[in-house]
This record gives sequence, structure tokens and C-alpha cells, in this order.
Amino acid sequence: MEKIVSPALQIEELRRTLREHEYRYYVLSSPTIGDLEYDALMKRLEELELQYPEWDSPDSPTHRVGSDKTEGFVSVQHERPMLSLGNTYNYDEVGDFYRRVADGLGGYPFEIVAELKFDGLSISLIYEDGALVRAVTRGDGITGDDVTANVRTIRSIPLRLRGENYPRLLEVRGEILLPFKEFERINSEREAAGEPPFANPRNAASGTIKQLDPRIVASRNLDAYFYYIYSDELLPATHYDRLNAAREWGFKISDAVTLCSTREEVYAFIDHFDTERLNLPVATDGIVLKVNSLAQQEELGFTAKSPRWAISYKYQAERARTRLRYVSYQVGRTGAITPVANLDPVLISGTVVRRASLHNADFIA
Ligand code: IVH
Repeated sequence: MEKIVSPALQIEELRRTLREHEYRYYVLSSPTIGDLEYDALMKRLEELELQYPEWDSPDSPTHRVGSDKTEGFVSVQHERPMLSLGNTYNYDEVGDFYRRVADGLGGYPFEIVAELKFDGLSISLIYEDGALVRAVTRGDGITGDDVTANVRTIRSIPLRLRGENYPRLLEVRGEILLPFKEFERINSEREAAGEPPFANPRNAASGTIKQLDPRIVASRNLDAYFYYIYSDELLPATHYDRLNAAREWGFKISDAVTLCSTREEVYAFIDHFDTERLNLPVATDGIVLKVNSLAQQEELGFTAKSPRWAISYKYQAERARTRLRYVSYQVGRTGAITPVANLDPVLISGTVVRRASLHNADFIA
């Protein structure tokens, strides 16, 4: 005999199951059920929510697809300003950072967390009681755009946190990215439709997050990595442990994050990822070094623009010199004309480049 389960319980159970499978698929990249099975569960949940709208909830997995509501973006003030980082470009400058930190801490020992610097657009997420309530772009660092509806469509971002021991009020900061594969797929679609291609995955990601229709955002398979958390409630005492806690709550934290106790370990990290980062599915343009202890971060404080406890190291962008043979003009389906540079073939980051779009000033420069 079939047990009679209340619709509310069925809905809750389906949501729990779907969240678990989303986490395994999008965050851990190791699914345990097939697409068809997943779709069937999602369909069942959609049906129940339609039938019992009183049990609908904004953090249900069904809301990933994006509603057709178009809302302009509301400007929101950040709880804490979103600062930028000082840049370094060589080992000497990294050494200077090390000395400044050591001096600032009066010679006390310290550890450094080395991370990849993701090249997308920064985002601040606010969670209340474990539910995503707001997502705001960096903007000018003081106020940004509320892009919550769009961010809800990103499947590696938890709408509801895992486990129980997260703070009631939590802010998580990270980077939204368009994976290279998606970038190529979208650009070939755009070119086929006679639309200008995106210049790079970063432009494509920010263009996408500013779309007014969340369904377009949902179709573009954005991804997100997180690198800093804030709460006024009790959190682990080190940045490294906080990132591990955030990983437990369901956020995508890069496996590259490494705790270093010596300057040599930091240099080894930089060296390793100079080439290794080219095998990643998303764009990175450097690394970020952060003092591990939060007490030490506080002691070091900030300059007007950036923290004294962190710095970025920028990798040299790969460049090549070649000859411009001639400029041709490509006519798209809509009649848009794009100038194209035809070059002597040249090898950059593993691909042979023969043609380059000249559709915007950045490209031409
Ligand atoms: S930490 C207060 N960590 O780089 C310091 N930033 O100029 C907060 N970024 O716009 C930043 N990867 O969006 C940090 N692992 C990482 C990062 C990272 C990329 C971006 C960030 C910010 C810029 C800093």
C-alpha cells in the first residue's frame, strides 16, 4: 500500500534531493544520477509547486531557470566596501610585500594563503538563515547593482546552504566566470547570427550578468568561485579555515588554495600555476596572497584603496608579434559589418591565430 505523504513533505524531500544532486554535479563535478532521472525529479517538483503554490519558495531548485520578470537593476550599498588589491609583477615586489607584512606584525611569524586570481566579475552574496537573499555586483565598490534574479540561475551557487553550522547572517565574495567552452559556444552562435562576438570571457560574463532577462542568463552556464567570507558572528580564526567552512556550506572554493609558511612556498606556487592555470576551465590572470590569521589581517588594516594584508601577482599576458596581411569585412546575417584582421599565423596559448576580429577599439589596439 502506498504511504500517504503530505504535499509539503513531498516538496521538501524533492528539494532536498535535487539540492544534493546539484551540489554533486555542479560543485563536486561527480554526479550520482543521470540527467533523465534529475529532470524527472525536477518536473515532479514543478508540478507539485504549481498545484500547491502556498508551498512555493524563492530558494526552490525550480527557480534556477529564471522567471520572466524583468526588473531594472536597483542600486544597493555594500555592507563593507569592495576594495581592490595592490598589484605586483615580479618576485622582488612580492618580496617587498613580505617585508612590509613582517614589519607591520613586529616580526611575529605569519602564514600566507596563496590563491588563483580569477578573471571574471566580482560578486557579493548575502545569506540569511542559510538562504540566498541578495547578490550585488562590485559597482564602484561602495554601491553595486542588485542582480539577485540573474545570480539565482547560476547552478554552482547554493540557493540554500548545506549543513547547519553557518552564521545566521553571512556575506560571501567571489568571482562570476564564463568557462572557456561556454565562451566559444556563445561566440560561434553570435557570429552565426551576425552579432558581434564577446571580446573575452570576462566581458561575456559581465555582459551576461547585466541582462534584464534571467532566462538568457540561465542559458549561458556561468560558474562562480568564492574567496572571502564575512560575518559578525563566530567564524574560524584563519582565512584558510574559513574557506574550508565555506566549502562545507556548498560554495565552490578552488582546490588550488594553498597554505604557505615560507616565501619559497609562495614562489613555488606562483611558478607552478604560471603554466598549470592554462589547463583550467576558467580564466585566471594571476594569484592572490593573503595573510592567513584574521587577527593579523586586522592588525595590518587597510590603506585608502586596498588591504595591507593581501596583494595580487599578475602573470604576463601571452603576447606574440606577427604581420597584418590585410583587413577584410565580414557581413553578418543582420547586415552588421565586422572588420577582420588577417595575420601571418602565430601560436598563442596553444592555438594558431590567423584572424582577429577588429569590431571594437580594444581589439584594434
Ligand atoms: S580577495 C579585500 N581573492 O580581484 C580583498 N580577489 O583587485 C578582496 N579576485 O575585484 C579581494 N580572484 O574580484 C581576492 N582569489 C581572489 C580573487 C580576487 C579574483 C578579484 C576580485 C577583485 C580583484 C582585486
